[in-house]
Amino acid sequence: MASFQSLTILLFFSLVTFSFAALDPNKLPKNTAIHFPIRKNDTSLQYYTTFEFGESRTIIDALIDLGAESVWFDCRSYVSSTYKRISCGSNRCQKAKGWYECIGCNSTPRPGCSNNTCGVLAFNPNRLYFTAQELGEDTMRASSTDGRFVLRDYDAPKFQFTCADSDIIDGKPGDHTKGLVGLARTQLSLASQISSSFNLAPKFALCLPSSSENGLGDIYVGGGPYYMPPSPQDQSLSLIRTPIVVNPVSPPPIYSEGAPSNEYFISVQDIEISGKRVSFNSSLLSFDKNGFGGAKISTIAPYTTLHASIYKRLVKDYVKAAALKKIKRVTSVAPFGACFDSRTVTTTATGPGVPDIDIVLPGNAVLVKLKLSGSNLMVEVKKNVICLAITIDGGAFQGTSIVLGGHQLENRLLEFDLSTSRLGFTPSLLLSNTSCSHFRLY
Ligand SMILES: *[C@@H]1O[C@H](CO)[C@@H](O)[C@H](O)[C@H]1NC(C)=O
Ligand SMILES: *[C@@H]1O[C@H](CO)[C@@H](O)[C@H](O)[C@H]1NC(C)=O
Ligand SMILES: *[C@@H]1O[C@H](CO)[C@@H](O)[C@H](O)[C@H]1NC(C)=O
Ligand SMILES: *[C@@H]1O[C@H](CO)[C@@H](O)[C@H](O)[C@H]1NC(C)=O
Repeated sequence: MASFQSLTILLFFSLVTFSFAALDPNKLPKNTAIHFPIRKNDTSLQYYTTFEFGESRTIIDALIDLGAESVWFDCRSYVSSTYKRISCGSNRCQKAKGWYECIGCNSTPRPGCSNNTCGVLAFNPNRLYFTAQELGEDTMRASSTDGRFVLRDYDAPKFQFTCADSDIIDGKPGDHTKGLVGLARTQLSLASQISSSFNLAPKFALCLPSSSENGLGDIYVGGGPYYMPPSPQDQSLSLIRTPIVVNPVSPPPIYSEGAPSNEYFISVQDIEISGKRVSFNSSLLSFDKNGFGGAKISTIAPYTTLHASIYKRLVKDYVKAAALKKIKRVTSVAPFGACFDSRTVTTTATGPGVPDIDIVLPGNAVLVKLKLSGSNLMVEVKKNVICLAITIDGGAFQGTSIVLGGHQLENRLLEFDLSTSRLGFTPSLLLSNTSCSHFRLY
């Protein structure tokens, strides 16, 4: 029955597509935005999107990185008659902000290999590797949405991206990153380019799915409404807002010579467990002269990571709060520091009935709380064992005291409004009996 319904919907929207085709091919109708799907890889715990690029309509599979400044993909087999490289010293090269230089190539000319070309830095977070690669432009195809359905495809011409060769692509074993979409506060980000191409509001929203088995999540560019079926609510009405703050110095891994960071930092005031404040040195919540400290949001970190001293205190307090709920602690399973016997945990609408963690943030004159509960906090590591899905900092994320990672961001809507510099977040969608995994859109 369900599949019959989706077939009907598909047929209906194919008809709509035909009847609109005669209109201006590139003008989005009023009250529509752009939509891209999100898939989660359950092994790498990373989030991917797909889009079509170039005259050949090549399908690109790209890692979603909130902190990355631009879009790049593997150009080694990319063929497109509409591709244009951007030459070194041109206005567009200079506008590409950030770091650039003139690059050349000794091989047969092709997209990604030419002389006297504008080279911009592209970053592969899985390898912590930067390299200058050819800046080019071509047509991106993007789907419109009314917030409920994906409607039809539009062209975003002259979309700028980094046409990458093997240097950046071939990662460690298991890294299958062949492309990346950056969503940072830059003009070359996916969201900025799509917003300006279609004259949309400079905002985007993410709905990160906890698994792709039950459907795909969403990137919306240009604003709401945001419907998450089967819930009839427009989630844009449930957004709680907090300012996005700018870290005046880029922390690692993205050093940019003392320039402000283009990542999304928020101003955490406190962390509470079951309503009780976790006590730690609050100077860790502000930035030092190297850009260390503070709190940011990352789609690359699979779990929230904390500065060691915050982590220790949080785990200690969490175990205590769990004990008060008669939850039995069991031997920890690395990399997690607090694991529990799931048979001693009740079940709630948001998952396991464990103590909540609230991230306290400035709102509009009052403090607001980003509430983490149930499945946003726990991960099942083996039969009957669930662990607090928060880890100690290290590696790529060292330096920033709190990195809110994927597991804690899933199944709620996050809206990044670049004109007002505000992050909006909804309560867990599980409370509205829905999630960020939908099949209906495709
Ligand atoms: C770039 O210039 C070098 C030296 O002139 C030449 O050997 C090479 O083939 C050129 N590369 C391309 C892609 O045209
Ligand atoms: C998921 O990630 C793993 C590990 O990085 C990789 O081996 C696998 O190919 C990925 N799966 C898909 C469908 O991309
Ligand atoms: C808090 O941390 C700062 C910076 O690391 C340090 O200078 C200060 O002494 C610490 N305060 C306390 C009470 O530990
Ligand atoms: C979600 O579903 C439960 C059980 O089916 C129901 O009791 C509850 O009212 C629903 N909540 C919402 C917000 O629809």
